[in-house]
Amino acid sequence: MEQLNREFLFYQTRKKLPFIQRAEGISMWDDAGKEYMDACSGAVICNIGYGDRRIADVIAEQAQETFFAYRTQFENGPAVQLAGDLVKYSAPHLNRVFYVSGGSEAVESAMKLCRQYFYNRGEGSRYLFISRVPSYHGSTLGALALTSYASLEIPFRPMIQTYPKIPAPYCYRCVYHKEYPQCDLECARALETTILEQGPQNVAAFVVEPIVGASIGALVPPEDYFSIIQETCGKYGIFLILDEVMTGFGRTGKLFGYEHWDVEADIVALSKGMASGYYPLGGIMTRNSIVDEVMRSGGFGHGHTYAGNPMACAVGLEVFRIVREEHLTENSAGMGRLLKAGLKGLEERYGMIGQVRGKGLLLALELVRDRDTREPFPAEKEVNLLLTDMAWEEGLIIYPRRPINGLSGDHVLIAPPLIVNEDQVHEIVDRLDRALKRVMKKL
Ligand SMILES: Cc1ncc(COP(=O)(O)O)c(C=O)c1O
Repeated sequence: MEQLNREFLFYQTRKKLPFIQRAEGISMWDDAGKEYMDACSGAVICNIGYGDRRIADVIAEQAQETFFAYRTQFENGPAVQLAGDLVKYSAPHLNRVFYVSGGSEAVESAMKLCRQYFYNRGEGSRYLFISRVPSYHGSTLGALALTSYASLEIPFRPMIQTYPKIPAPYCYRCVYHKEYPQCDLECARALETTILEQGPQNVAAFVVEPIVGASIGALVPPEDYFSIIQETCGKYGIFLILDEVMTGFGRTGKLFGYEHWDVEADIVALSKGMASGYYPLGGIMTRNSIVDEVMRSGGFGHGHTYAGNPMACAVGLEVFRIVREEHLTENSAGMGRLLKAGLKGLEERYGMIGQVRGKGLLLALELVRDRDTREPFPAEKEVNLLLTDMAWEEGLIIYPRRPINGLSGDHVLIAPPLIVNEDQVHEIVDRLDRALKRVMKKL
C-alpha cells in the first residue's frame, strides 16, 4: 500500500497513518502486520467488535434483494422491523422512529422536529435550544450551534446561531467553585435561570448527553441532576432532547443512557452503536403526540436521501439482535466494572491520573500535572496526544480530547467494544500501564 499516493486525502490529523489490513474482535492489524487492541471502538462506535461474519452474511443476503429503495416511494421490511424492535426495547413513551445516516443528522433532525412541533402548535416564537459548556453534538451547523468545544467552533462562529448555554456538571472543575451536594446543583438550576433570561416562550428544548462522551470524557452527572432538569423542562413546556449518539445501545451498561435515571426524554438521538460501524445509520425516537402534531400539516419538512435504506436497516436490525441476544449490555456493565477497577489501580500508581470516571464501557482518565490542586498540564504539551501516541506504540488505541472547552486539560476515553472479555480487559490495562510509563519518561 505504501506506493499509493496519499496526497489527495486530507483529515484533521497531521500524522502519517498506517493502512488498515484487517480487523477482528477487538483487534486491528496494519499492513506491516502490527496488532492494535482497539480500546476506544474507533470513535466509540464499533460496539459489537470487528469482522462479525453474521453482518457480512446479512449484507450479502440483503444485496441479493436491494441495497436501496427511496423511503417516500417504497416501505422496506428491515426499516419497519428495526423500528419495531427499537420501540419494543426503549422507554414505553418512545414509539415513533425517524431514520438518518449519522449522529449529526440525528441531532439536526431532533432540533427540527421539535421546532416544527412548536410551529404547528402556534408557538412559533420557540426556536432557542439550550445546551451545555462543554459539549459535543456534531459537526453540521445546527449541531455545531449546540456544541461548545472551542477548537471545533471558533472559525465557524459567524455562521452559526448563538444559542444559550449552561455549565455541564463537571464537578472536578466546578465553575462555581462549589462541592456537591452543598452546591445544590447550581449547574442544573442554571437551566431555569437561562430559560427566564431568554423568555420561556422563546425556548424550544434543552439538549444534553445522559453521560458526556467525548467533550469532558465519560462524565456521569450527580444522582439528582436529571430530576432537576426534567422538572424545569416540564415547568416551562420545553422539550428534553437526549443525545444518545454515543451512549446508546449498551455502551454505558444499560441499553440506553437514560435508564440510569428516572428521566423521560421527548426526543432521543441515536447513531454510532446502532449499526456498530458496519453501515452509516442513525435515528431519532419520540412520542406519538409529537409526530401526530407534525404530521397534521402534511409531514415533517425534513429528510435525507439515504435515510432508512434497506441495507442500513438490515445491518442495524442484526446489530441490535446481537447486542440483545449476546447480552452485550450486561457485558458492558460487568467488564466496565473490571476495567474501571484496573484503571483505578493505575490511578494509585500514577500521580498524573487526576480522575477515573464513567459507567459501563464508557470510561475516561483525566490527566493532571498536580493531583492535589488539579492543575492541568500546560496546553502546549498536549499530554492527551502524547499518551495516545505512547499507547499506539504499545499496540493500544485510545481516544484523546481536552475537557476545558476543548482548549486545555487532557483526557483520554477508554471504551473498548462491548464484546471485550476479562483477559482482554487485563491486557488493555497492561498496555496502558506501559504507555503511562513511557509518558512519565518523556515529561
Ligand atoms: C454525543 C454525540 N452527538 C453527535 C455526534 C455526531 O455524530 P456523527 O459524527 O456521526 O455525525 C457525536 C460524534 O462523536 C457524539 O459523540
